[in-house]
Parts: sequence; C-alpha cells; structure tokens
Amino acid sequence: MLICRIFPQKVSLNTSISSIPGDKSISHRAFILGGLCENSSRFSHILESEDCLNTCKIMQQLGVSITKENGQYVVEGRGLRGLQSPGTGITLDVGNSGTSIRLLTGLLAAQSFESVISGDISIQGRPMKRIIDPLTGMGARISGQSRPDSEDIFPPLRIQPVDSLNDIDYALPMASAQVKSAVLLAGLYTDHVSIDEPEHSRDHTERLLQYYGAAINSYGKRVTLQNMESLKNPNPEQVLRVPGDISSALFFIALSVLAKKTFVELTGIGDNQTRNAALDCITRMRGRIRKNRASDTWEPTINVEVQSSELFNTQLSGDVIPNIIDEIPILSILGLSAKGTMKVRDAEELRVKESDRISSIVRLIEAMGCSITEYVDGFDLEGGQDIQPFYYDSGGDHRMAMSAIIGALAAGVEATVENCDCIATSFPNFFDILKELGLSFEVIEQ
Ligand code: S3P
Repeated sequence: MLICRIFPQKVSLNTSISSIPGDKSISHRAFILGGLCENSSRFSHILESEDCLNTCKIMQQLGVSITKENGQYVVEGRGLRGLQSPGTGITLDVGNSGTSIRLLTGLLAAQSFESVISGDISIQGRPMKRIIDPLTGMGARISGQSRPDSEDIFPPLRIQPVDSLNDIDYALPMASAQVKSAVLLAGLYTDHVSIDEPEHSRDHTERLLQYYGAAINSYGKRVTLQNMESLKNPNPEQVLRVPGDISSALFFIALSVLAKKTFVELTGIGDNQTRNAALDCITRMRGRIRKNRASDTWEPTINVEVQSSELFNTQLSGDVIPNIIDEIPILSILGLSAKGTMKVRDAEELRVKESDRISSIVRLIEAMGCSITEYVDGFDLEGGQDIQPFYYDSGGDHRMAMSAIIGALAAGVEATVENCDCIATSFPNFFDILKELGLSFEVIEQ
C-alpha cells in the first residue's frame, strides 16, 4: 500500500503546469466509440490511467486493434457489427472503473455473443440497476448479484446474446452521463432512442458520436439518437487531442488559490460546458481565476491562470451538482478556508461514487480537526477553520486521497494519507507534478 507523508511547509508557487493528464471521461469514449467506427481514429494525450487502460484492454478483447504510435493511440474501428466474443469463461475486468462497466454493459447488451463483466471489490459494490432497468426495457438480457441489504443489482453482470434491441423513450431518474451513455451505446443498435435527464450531465458521448456522423440531437435536457448504418471518422488522419482533465486540474487550481503569493498557469485544460462549473464556483467564491481560450475543436480547451485568493463561501445545489459531482471533495477543502458557510445540497449521488463521498468528506474534515454537519444529500461546512496535523485513510477513493494531500499542503501541516495507490486510477503523474512544484512530501510503500 502507498502512503503519502506531507511535511510542514509554506507553499508559494510561480509556475506553469502543462502536464495535466488527458480527460478520463473522454479517453474512455475514445476507445469505445473509436472501436465502433468503420475506419480508424488517432487520439493524442489519452489518459493512461488504470481505469482507461482497462477500457482499452476490454475493447481489444472484443477484437478492436488499439496500438500506440509516437505517443498517439490508433484505434482501428471494426464497425458497429464487427465486435467479437472475448471467449467463453472470460470475465471482462474493469478494475475500479464505474465508467467502463456502465458504458461497456450498454454496448455488450446489443451484441450477439454472451459476456460477463466485473471489477474490483469497490466495483462489486456499485449499483447497476440504473443501467439494467433501461437496457432490459430495450430487450437486453442482463443478470447481476443481489445483496440482502439492498434492492439494487451488483456486478459481476452476465449479458446474454440478443438478435436485436427495441427503441426506448427513457426518463432518467438521476442525472448520470454513465447511464445516458449506456443507453446511447445500446441505442446505436435500435431505430430510435430518446432520453430525458432531470439535469444536464456531461455530454462527451454525444459530442464524439456527432463527430462520427451519428444522427444525435440535444434539445434542452432531451437527447435523441436515430438509427444509422455506421459510424465513420470524417478525417482519419487528423489527430484528436484529448484535453487535460478539468477534474484533475482542479486539485492544482485549488492548491494555487489557497497557497500564498501564487501565480500559476495551467495549459490545455478541457472547457466543456457540462464539466466546467467548478471554475465558475471558485470565481463565485472570489477566487482569482482567468480563462483564456486555447482551442475550440471537438472539445474546447483553455489555459487557466490562478492567483492566491481570499475566498468567500457559497451554496452548491440544484442543477450545478451533476456538473461539479467529481469536484465536490476538493471544493470542500476550499470551503474550509473560505469565509462563511459552504452548503452542499442535492448531491445524494455522491453516496454511490468510488466511496460514499459524503461520509468520506465528513471523515476527512473531522480528521483535520474541523467540524462539519452531514445531511443525506450534502453537508454544511463552516469556513475559517484551521486544519490540524492529521492522518487519513482514503479508503481507496482517488479523489479523496488527492483532496487530503492538497488540503495538507495548502494548510502547511504535517499529514499522513494512507491508501494512495488508487490515485493511479485517474491521475498517474499526480506525485510527479507535486515534485516538480518543489513540495515537501514522501511516498512510501508499506
Ligand atoms: C462519468 C460520469 C459521472 C462521473 C464519473 C465519470 C462519465 O458519473 O462521476 O467520474 O465519464 O460518464 P455519473 O454519470 O454516474 O454521475
């Protein structure tokens, strides 16, 4: 197990960070949708984290050739009907990745071969009824595991072969890009699907489908997909650069806002409007952030300048929540040093992430010697509390481990964060960047 020890220090930064890794959500979709095209696609700056490499490996097991040439991933699509069985007795292994299991189950649900898909202990505790309900509504045949303490269904999932799937008009009970994408992937094998979301969730699947020529449309919170014979890359020679992951960048944006006398520029960060609300939240908290447009291609990209700031708390609730769902752990660290009270509501989805993230945040804030009030769907956090030296076990949740480390660095306190191996699932060069910034810490194997 990896343990990170952070030493007391005063952090002041004046630098540019160009090594924020590629966006996790987009990298998964590049492997999956690229594999369904009639022709090939080239992607650069793909996130080479455990989660995305598991999706890559599973697409390869389904017969898609994915190779790396000069740092670029070349995905040779096999067409919508070209996937092959991974072989009998094989369990497709997503590791820790909820995005992989939910999206790939949508794809596998439409295939004419049987498959079994599962992952690590954490994945075996993640709810799958949310995808099984709409997919079985389309005629898919999926079975999973039940538990005495829950009405939900859990991996491993067994997906039986089908000849065809039915159209569906589905109202999502929760805003979830993973569920929406599972239905869209299965929907590629129907005449028509429409999906209504209670709030907008990230739209990376829709964007890449559109780029590949799918008849996909979004009107307000409704997405429709019409039948098409094939997906095709309009320009196979063009290299599609995956933008830097804004969720990963947020850890260094938060550190830069909290550190003293700091000016940091982060370059090549994704600015998809279904993902960028955390930057607006920090601006609303009077964080000094400036966005400069870098490129406006399939996924818009910005450079972000950040200066040390005195923060004021705000309420995070309602339709902004799906947009900032992965950033709430690190935003809570900002809330702790801001003036006033940070109120988070409508965020019950946090309870079914890599960990129950509301409990994990409460445990972290309390480990830091501070107080927080927990609600079913969020928390109240009084700002202006001093972080004390602390010990924290991430419980295997990558975003909690990184939030704890950034919190300790920003406060300049000594801390020990256990269970840091999980950071590699989304941010393999996290510690390298901390080192480049000259910060004082050590990572030990125990
Ligand atoms: C993701 C969607 C979100 C997010 C996850 C990645 C995706 O989950 O929390 O980290 O790539 O589609 P939900 O769709 O379950 O909210």
